Amino acid sequence: MRIVLLGAPGSGKGTQSQRLVETYAIPQVSTGDLLREAVGKKTDLGLRAKAAMDAGKLVEDSIVLGMIRERLAQPDAERGFILDGFPRNIAQAEALTLLLADLGTPLDAVILMNIDTAVLLKRLSGRRICEDCGRVFNVFTSPPGSLPNCERCGDKPRLIQRPDDKEEVIGKRLEVFEAQTKPLVEHYRAAGLLRVINADAEVETVFVDLTAAVGRPAAVPGVALRR
Ligand code: AP5
Repeated sequence: MRIVLLGAPGSGKGTQSQRLVETYAIPQVSTGDLLREAVGKKTDLGLRAKAAMDAGKLVEDSIVLGMIRERLAQPDAERGFILDGFPRNIAQAEALTLLLADLGTPLDAVILMNIDTAVLLKRLSGRRICEDCGRVFNVFTSPPGSLPNCERCGDKPRLIQRPDDKEEVIGKRLEVFEAQTKPLVEHYRAAGLLRVINADAEVETVFVDLTAAVGRPAAVPGVALRR
């Protein structure tokens, strides 16, 4: 299975990817995670990406495309993958189509995770991450102490806030989504790959909808989307 999870910041792409990984045993390929790792290790690439990330802007396509090419060439991606946060604009989508055509492994589906902005704002402001293991929490919906406990951190994670989850940066990220990423909805609808799910529900409910959507016929032109 080769799918893209498309959705605004905080729509739940990372949360749902983790469940897909457990269910389908294929890797989550998150450009955000790959970039944060590079920033953390202070690699050349990370140093070049950091300013854009901290400002809520997109990192330049050449950096992201290089990372994706390298990641999808790894053996664990042969059986499939979940693209989380990539592509982010039309140029990246076109480059992905060419790359997958070269590999002879086209996408099966693009899932749009539809959700209201007010819900996103609350989710992003409440998100916290364990500094040690990277597990994602939410002070409103999944605070520390939520099961299952992490084998590494037990029930006492050291929580930090992502620098780009500060209020002033969240606004910019949502703006960038509207201007640069939202056009992918029509791009993938025209390609016959788009499925739309409601991402504003309990995590398990969204997951049930998501797995059903993977096997559902593509969305057709003219169907209105919630904003
Ligand atoms: P990235 O890491 O991709 O961030 P994002 O797209 O902004 O998405 P998020 O990680 O914020 O949200 P999510 O949808 O994964 O939600 P989550 O599951 O965590 O990108 C970061 C930056 O890297 C970008 O701004 C850019 O600079 C750069 N970048 C990345 N990819 C790039 C690319 N391709 N090109 C250029 N630049 C790129 O959930 C959010 C919170 O809500 C959590 O606390 C979670 O617990 C909670 N939650 C999730 N689901 C539910 C639910 N159903 N009910 C209640 N709470 C929920």
